[in-house]
Amino acid sequence: MASSTWWSSEDLWRKFAIWVTAIMFLVLIILTFDSVSEIKSGTDRVPPYSVINQRIDYTFDETRNRMAPIIGSEAPLFGAALTTEQAEELVTKGKLTIQAKNCINCHTLLGNGSYYAPDLTKAWLDPAWGSEAIREQLMIGFLMNPSANARTFGSGRKMPNLGITEEEAKGIVAFLKWMSAIDTNGFPHNFQPMKQGG
Ligand code: HEC
Repeated sequence: MASSTWWSSEDLWRKFAIWVTAIMFLVLIILTFDSVSEIKSGTDRVPPYSVINQRIDYTFDETRNRMAPIIGSEAPLFGAALTTEQAEELVTKGKLTIQAKNCINCHTLLGNGSYYAPDLTKAWLDPAWGSEAIREQLMIGFLMNPSANARTFGSGRKMPNLGITEEEAKGIVAFLKWMSAIDTNGFPHNFQPMKQGG
């Protein structure tokens, strides 16, 4: 009869598997709460939605050796400062539209999505919108009718018309402005922002 050693006992390994699964399950829960506390809006890296009332600068941070957003002076979106609730409502409208229209079928947001069209993380700061003075109108015009207002950012590809209303376009612009204020450790790399005055 083969004598079995302690480490080859079936019972030991069954208990071991159960303990490892249980501990890892706990670790997963702890990490989930930890991640949520880092990524929710209103933290150091992810500003509150009311940041759309301010100018977002994007400059090189010498100490960190990467680009970083700087929340600047008052610069209300569409000319009217919003309350915290109104800002959240508008950004949420944009987020829901982006989800409903499945923009990440072509684009990436914070690096997630598809690689057919440009990453939208810093799209608000794209020099292709000309200047601060005309950016909001150009963005809305483009989103509502991309084929007529194509910016052709050198790709030669065109964005199709997605039937976006003006209200939805404003929400998207608010969402993109808020997202550009997120400190993404310099992602996307090599992005050069538009020059903003004052
Ligand atoms: C079928 C693919 C496709 C889908 C879906 C799509 N786009 Fe685009 N988008 C493009 C392409 C291609 C470009 C580049 C257009 C150009 O160069 O003229 C673009 C450009 C853009 C730009 C300008 C990017 C920049 O860097 O300034 C924005 C903003 C944008 N799209 C937003 C959206 C939003 C918001 C949605 C969803 C509502 C969306 N797109 C859905 C293909 C798509």
